[in-house]
Amino acid sequence: MTEKDMGKTRKGVVYVNAGNEVLTCIRERRSARRYTNEQISPEQLDALLDAAIWAPSGGNNQSWLFTVIQKKDILLKLNEIVIEAFQHWIPDDDYPGKLGMKEHSRRDGYNFYYNAPTLIIASNRPNYENAMADCSLALENIFLAARSLGLGSCYINQLHWLRGDPVVREYLFEFGIPKEHTICSSAAIGFAAAESTAPARKDGAIRIIR
Ligand SMILES: Cc1cc2nc3c(=O)[nH]c(=O)nc-3n(C[C@H](O)[C@H](O)[C@H](O)COP(=O)(O)O)c2cc1C
Repeated sequence: MTEKDMGKTRKGVVYVNAGNEVLTCIRERRSARRYTNEQISPEQLDALLDAAIWAPSGGNNQSWLFTVIQKKDILLKLNEIVIEAFQHWIPDDDYPGKLGMKEHSRRDGYNFYYNAPTLIIASNRPNYENAMADCSLALENIFLAARSLGLGSCYINQLHWLRGDPVVREYLFEFGIPKEHTICSSAAIGFAAAESTAPARKDGAIRIIR
């Protein structure tokens, strides 16, 4: 049995995940940022969406909406709209990644969903405190299901950041995303064209009081 199989990644900590497919899948899921052009099958898409809607939701609200875009020309148009929106977007806090992303979007060839063939946009009803939590749990189900099916996936935040942009909202409205919905986030899905390495786990994240 290899060290990876034993699940030894934290200093001095071994937990037994050998042979447990769910725990192995959680461990081995990675964010993919390069994709092949191959589209996922309708059956694979169904499986991902089924995983999404079986996530827990606050008060069993299930008020989420998962909008899937697989048409390349629509995705490319959305990318153009996102690039344009970034130019006049003012981040509402000093999270460094936001300014970096704004800068990045000016570069040639920028594509916010990494040219993945499928984008799943998770939105939720307005004035609902658990909107982000519910959609995030559903997205993690999607990511894990994707991994289990041999697909790559990545959390894509740009549409959340630009959720207040009227041009972005107008375009998303064409595909049935209500303008009052909060855009929680989205998932890029496809066949990964490159392996991503696992970032090391930081110390200090866990405290157990017995
Ligand atoms: C809330 C949140 C937002 C994220 N936004 C993006 C994003 O916009 N683009 C991206 O490439 N990755 C995004 N990620 C993925 C993280 O960068 C990634 O999970 C982290 O680097 C760890 O790598 P791993 O997913 O391979 O374990 C996001 C992840 C989370 C949880």
